[in-house]
Amino acid sequence: MNKHSDNVSGWKKFMKSMTGAHDLATEEDIMLDHDYDGIKELDNVLPPWWLAGFYITIAVGIFYYVMVYGFGKYKQADEFAAAMDAAKKEIAAYKAANPELFNTDNIVAFTDAENLAKGKELFASKTCTACHLEDLGGSIGPNLTDNAWFLGGTVIDVYNTIAKGGRPGKGMIAWESTLSRLEMQQLSSYIISMQGTTPQNPKAAEGDIIWPE
Ligand code: HEC
Repeated sequence: MNKHSDNVSGWKKFMKSMTGAHDLATEEDIMLDHDYDGIKELDNVLPPWWLAGFYITIAVGIFYYVMVYGFGKYKQADEFAAAMDAAKKEIAAYKAANPELFNTDNIVAFTDAENLAKGKELFASKTCTACHLEDLGGSIGPNLTDNAWFLGGTVIDVYNTIAKGGRPGKGMIAWESTLSRLEMQQLSSYIISMQGTTPQNPKAAEGDIIWPE
């Protein structure tokens, strides 16, 4: 045998040990005795390479379970709580560093055409019109063009109503999780700009806060 054929047989041996393949010559030995229309089945062993992987995953699984849930200090719930704490701190720090983004006392009404047009567009696209109507005359929600308010008629009041919602159970939800600060500012500016207009079918004035006094 030359060197080359040595290599080949070495490789073959390796493959045989990895696959556990049965010699073709003695295949009869592992032939199962059933016969389906001439199709027969060999009772081959599971390939050792596959079995090794299978046993390794079992071992790793047990090791992991014991380390994580048995003796280990690690708890998924702790990791979650720690991540939530860290995020809360980050949010608090961000709010402290950028008070102007979270304060509502510094909200001013836009008066430029572009922002008011955006406000009008949002009023329709965010379904405000479903309850307050296209011309703000009111249906389920109150008329927003008159000077009577449930919750106050300054731009800051209106902004806060949009952000935090109306009184509980009245049907006006809080929008701050779905609308951005700018969007809520555009909406409240638009509503303020519509003060004193005459809707087609205005709902009777509601609310005890009369604005401006
Ligand atoms: C499901 C119906 C509904 C939708 C949709 C709705 N509102 Fe309202 N809205 C109401 C009701 C009802 C009230 C009265 C709340 C109360 O009595 O506390 C109200 C109150 C308000 C007020 C305060 C009125 C006042 O008298 O103080 C403003 C401002 C307002 N809505 C703006 C909006 C805007 C802007 C949107 C869209 C982003 C919107 N609403 C969507 C039902 C709705």
